[in-house]
Amino acid sequence: MSEYILELQHIVKKYPGVLALNDVSLKIKKGQILGLIGENGAGKSTLIKTCSGAVIPTSGKIIVNGKEFTHMSPQLARENGIAIIYQEFNNIKGLSAAENLFLGNPIRKGIVIDKKAMEEEAEKAFEQLNIKIDPKELCGNLSVGYQQMIEIAKAIRLDAKVLIMDEPSAPLTSKEVESMMQVCELLKSQGVAIIYISHRLEEIFRLSSEIVVLRDGEYIDTLKTEESNVDELIQLMVGRQLKESYPKKPKNIISDEIILKLEDVCGNGDRHVNLEVRKGEVLGIAGLVGAGRTELAQMIFGAVKKDSGKIYFNNKEINPKCPKDAIELGIALVPEDRKRHGAILHNSINHNINMPIYDHFSKFSKINEKIEKDTTNKQIKELLVKTPSINQLVKNLSGGNQQKVILGKWLAANSQLIILDEPTRGIDVGAKFEIYKIINTLVEKGKTVILISSEMEELIGMSDRIIVFSEGCITGELQKDEFSQNAIMGLAANC
Ligand SMILES: Nc1ncnc2c1ncn2[C@@H]1O[C@H](COP(=O)(O)OP(=O)(O)OP(=O)(O)O)[C@@H](O)[C@H]1O
Ligand SMILES: [Mg+2]
Repeated sequence: MSEYILELQHIVKKYPGVLALNDVSLKIKKGQILGLIGENGAGKSTLIKTCSGAVIPTSGKIIVNGKEFTHMSPQLARENGIAIIYQEFNNIKGLSAAENLFLGNPIRKGIVIDKKAMEEEAEKAFEQLNIKIDPKELCGNLSVGYQQMIEIAKAIRLDAKVLIMDEPSAPLTSKEVESMMQVCELLKSQGVAIIYISHRLEEIFRLSSEIVVLRDGEYIDTLKTEESNVDELIQLMVGRQLKESYPKKPKNIISDEIILKLEDVCGNGDRHVNLEVRKGEVLGIAGLVGAGRTELAQMIFGAVKKDSGKIYFNNKEINPKCPKDAIELGIALVPEDRKRHGAILHNSINHNINMPIYDHFSKFSKINEKIEKDTTNKQIKELLVKTPSINQLVKNLSGGNQQKVILGKWLAANSQLIILDEPTRGIDVGAKFEIYKIINTLVEKGKTVILISSEMEELIGMSDRIIVFSEGCITGELQKDEFSQNAIMGLAANC
């Protein structure tokens, strides 16, 4: 019997116009955590989906516990102890934690579903993972972190021997990431093998013993984590050396003109926000998840109604009732939850990128196809979107590349004020740098950027000024010479 619990051998996956995987192999032992890294579109998700039957390989072998398969199916995966936690969880918001845990497989007493027994079992299952979730609580009321824990508990209940996690930390708060990583370590000690995909290398370093690197659908290398370092990994992923993390900023481009002013703006609750943003400025907004930053952005964009207070844009009071109003005024918001609010997945890249600007160049409802194509090509080039053509459907792009399309759509809209809510979440290192360069280009052109981010390093690297939010109000403001992670954390924690 092989010492490996799962082996992927020479996996090839071809899509029309895309060679998503070209002879990729990896293997993992019982009780091992294997990191899987690569840039957006490298093939990570496609590779692991071959293990669940969600993707049928064009060729290659999948060997589970010595048994050979040419492809899997969801049932075969389950029978062979393979579970995948995708980024979009499958749980049902209107059911309780316990009901979700037993979804499709409830405990019955005769023909009746035994709710009490399920709740007791759920309690035990959560305890086993050292997590406190009330089994009776509706899933929709639980944080994303807890919803993910339910998915992990479900996998364990189905006796998963191999747990595959595709960017598990992306939607979580830093505290939730910590508990999730602890659960991974616990499962490892119980002999579960874990394949862990992440763009955050510090997580990969903490958890894994070996790291597999993919680039453009090719297998590049497997490294021992202990013997590797961040620079080496980045170089293997992008195929070149990235020297700086943040592009240099042109100086003295902030004008004295106030482009946006908030006066006692109040959403739900009694906190008032007062704020001024100058033309050409990159204003960073820091704060813990749930501090009210996204809500504020949505109020400026007209997506959420403000209760009271005044918003001035270019010295005129504005009252956007919906995003369309804000877009017409020259305000753009790249939302945090891009899957839900950002793209029409079943449409082409070309259509998505041009969506907010059709009004600008369509005369008598005839679309000028040349301008349309040029706009799309420019964004694809600047954001390094990996796609065989501008007509590719957005749903066929990798997660990170979908995000780039949404970003491109707002950049093409030629707005004066661009609010970016967590713009680099799920984006690989090379493309991050490109996004930072775009932020600089925007302000160079006299545009203004509000950058909401949970990555303090990014805020410090990119902002001209940082304001910190806590529980719906501004708890402090930092000028460039005062920037530090400690200063931000200190302000984020009090109110
Ligand atoms: N159904 C599909 N049809 C066509 N191309 C596809 C399809 N699914 C994936 N691809 C392509 O395969 C390549 C690999 O995508 P994959 O989602 O595996 O990347 P990834 O490494 O997971 O990237 P990310 O970090 O952005 O999530 C991409 O170029 C993607 O556009
Ligand atoms: Mg992916």
